[in-house]
Amino acid sequence: MHGMQLVRPGPQHLAEYTAALERGWSADNLRGAVAAREELERIAADPAAFLALMDDPEALGPPVTLPDGTVKPRVPSLRRWMWADGAGGGGFAGTIGLRWAKAGAPLPPHVLGHIGYAVVPWQRRRGFATQALAALLPLARAQGLASVEITTDPDNTASQRVITANGGVLVERFDKGAAYGHAPGLRFRIELQP
Ligand SMILES: CC(C)(COP(=O)(O)OP(=O)(O)OC[C@H]1O[C@@H](n2cnc3c(N)ncnc32)[C@H](O)[C@@H]1OP(=O)(O)O)[C@@H](O)C(=O)NCCC(=O)NCCS
Repeated sequence: MHGMQLVRPGPQHLAEYTAALERGWSADNLRGAVAAREELERIAADPAAFLALMDDPEALGPPVTLPDGTVKPRVPSLRRWMWADGAGGGGFAGTIGLRWAKAGAPLPPHVLGHIGYAVVPWQRRRGFATQALAALLPLARAQGLASVEITTDPDNTASQRVITANGGVLVERFDKGAAYGHAPGLRFRIELQP
């Protein structure tokens, strides 16, 4: 099995993260290259500020742009990076993020789930997304969440396997709303151990 750890992003990780963005990869599945360029600009302007906002419990980061261009305020979030061990090519492998509403409120409808993840194409199918989700769930619990919702596209079977391997149960098929072109989504829930 390939090994991976979640790391809190630090200065020592930034060069590899930037290199992945420059290769055209982005953690934003919907806004892709545009989102990658925006992040590269933020890193170039102030790398320390970019890293500081990887833990953003007060939602101080920039507002969020949805696929139709709508801009919404950010919710509290934290981001961790997947770091592969040496066997088979180590280093930056992907990101996983947790977002939540303040004071136990439900997520606003435009926030599609508590957790999002993306693995760089050259590190896929090594179990990293499955391991990363398992490692993130205790952090969600530590934020006081009793369960998390994760949404996927109906045809994203890889992501669905990541969720079900971590105890996720399908809740519903839903309409993502106007900002997402009314695309259909699947909503899963994972109950967290107290
Ligand atoms: C979805 C994604 C995160 C999976 O990452 P990964 O590290 O390759 O996933 P894993 O190696 O943990 O694989 C999980 C399962 O999906 C399967 N899988 C992975 N890629 C697959 C593919 N392209 N087609 C079919 N099954 C696939 C694996 O075989 C594994 O199944 P198993 O548990 O039955 O063995 C990755 O493909 C990705 O970044 N995709 C683009 C972004 C994205 O879709 N993010 C999720 C949004 S909800």
